[in-house]
Amino acid sequence: MKNVSRFQAFLIVLFFSLPFCGFSQNSVVVHADKPGPKIDKAIYGHFAEHLGHCIYGGIYVGEKSDIPNIKGFRLDVVGALKDLKVPLVRWPGGCFADTYHWKDGIGPKSERPSIINVHWGGVTEDNSFGTHEFLDFCELIGCDAYVCLNVGSGSVQEAAQWIEYVTSSNESPMTKLRKQNGREKPWNVKYWAAGNETWGCGGSMRPEYYADLYNQYSSFMRAPGMYKIASGANGEDYRWTDVLMKQSASMMNGISVHYYTVPGTWENKRSATQFDEKEWFSTMEKTLKMEELVTKHSAIMDKYDPGKKVGLLVDEWGNWFDVEPGTNPGFLYQQNTLRDALVAGINLNIFNNHADRVRMSNIAQMINVLQSVILTKEKEMVLTPTYYVFKMYNVHQDATLLPLDLKCNKYTTESGSVDAINASASVKDGVVSITLCNLDPSKSQNVSFEIQGLKLAQVSGKIVTSGKMNAYNDFGKKEEVTIADYNAAKLSNGLVEATLPAKSVVLIQLK
Ligand code: AHR
Repeated sequence: MKNVSRFQAFLIVLFFSLPFCGFSQNSVVVHADKPGPKIDKAIYGHFAEHLGHCIYGGIYVGEKSDIPNIKGFRLDVVGALKDLKVPLVRWPGGCFADTYHWKDGIGPKSERPSIINVHWGGVTEDNSFGTHEFLDFCELIGCDAYVCLNVGSGSVQEAAQWIEYVTSSNESPMTKLRKQNGREKPWNVKYWAAGNETWGCGGSMRPEYYADLYNQYSSFMRAPGMYKIASGANGEDYRWTDVLMKQSASMMNGISVHYYTVPGTWENKRSATQFDEKEWFSTMEKTLKMEELVTKHSAIMDKYDPGKKVGLLVDEWGNWFDVEPGTNPGFLYQQNTLRDALVAGINLNIFNNHADRVRMSNIAQMINVLQSVILTKEKEMVLTPTYYVFKMYNVHQDATLLPLDLKCNKYTTESGSVDAINASASVKDGVVSITLCNLDPSKSQNVSFEIQGLKLAQVSGKIVTSGKMNAYNDFGKKEEVTIADYNAAKLSNGLVEATLPAKSVVLIQLK
């Protein structure tokens, strides 16, 4: 230190300590000069199960309802989902799928049998929403359909007949039946899965056993352009992915993985709306686990499929809290706050950044169940903070991923520390879109951006945030969380400087 003045020494110490004291500048380098893969729009998919009021009351109220509807589908919900540009919906479950016999849900409604929904509250399922209703609904909102076949309590024949009923344009007993039921033309259904959570509610199988069963089902799952999906791992069960890839990779187009963010324990998951910063932090930390899961499952898939033909599909994800007080515990109804908005933004950024392998994700679930984008109560409808994040992130659908280097501060609490910022970027039609989450509930973050490989002249932005961590939108009240214009990003000499408010999800667009 002999030749270094005290002032220089001070500057050196200051430089190295900045990242730890929260003053440092965060930086993002976006590589428009090294474009990545396409972000499949299916990453913005949804999941609708016969569970609680997701289907009945949420999507479907029946033609005789005094809630405004078209062919029984709620008009308000249809409009909101069209605005959201929902790319696909997974149906009929979930655990329900492995109890579902599709022939119960076709033909005149008065003749359809009622069954017991054994997984979800033991309530009566009258089968008034079946194959025709689901596929008509998808046509109405303009999305692809993803059907989960019954492996747990069904048969290969039942599955093959369902596929033929839906997709075939040839003469057969199944297509004759479809026509008798009022549908002349086949539907165009690309995505079909053989079972759900076959390690759990779908049959409690070992991966070796399920892989054999999957190969059997797959052999009889036939339709032009079909995308075949194997039931995948529970969270970090990497052995499941390994066995399935070893035994069945050549017979599948995709394999799923399920992971839920639970801030507490499965016995005491904690409230959706009443939480402190400790639970906020735990939610952020647990949701960031998705990065590790996707990375590790992808690495296993790379061993067997280096060409990345098989997609990793996160076909159930989201926050799972305790049900709202006074509601049926089997219906999984929970409110949705700004915390959910952050969780949605973080997960979607993770999926975007892994678009080379992650080809689909389905938030659980679309309406009135778990981390929903829409809540309904009789005639009323609420769009949740999660809805607005999906809406803001739509710009990434089918865009080209732009890799980024992110250097950022930490968000530190007495429980631990995580990166304060989470981000992804894409380009479409000459517009660069960067989505960023500031996980810190009390500190804003200054960020400088450099976009390599593009000359930019204009910047604009949108934001989802609120004054309170647990702000939410409620029936009959003014919205507390929605999309607002964001003007805190400035462009000069090709560089962008922006301030991300505490607990916010931000979209910055440049062209
Ligand atoms: O989304 C609720 C349930 O969670 C699904 O039915 C099941 O697949 C998962 O365990």
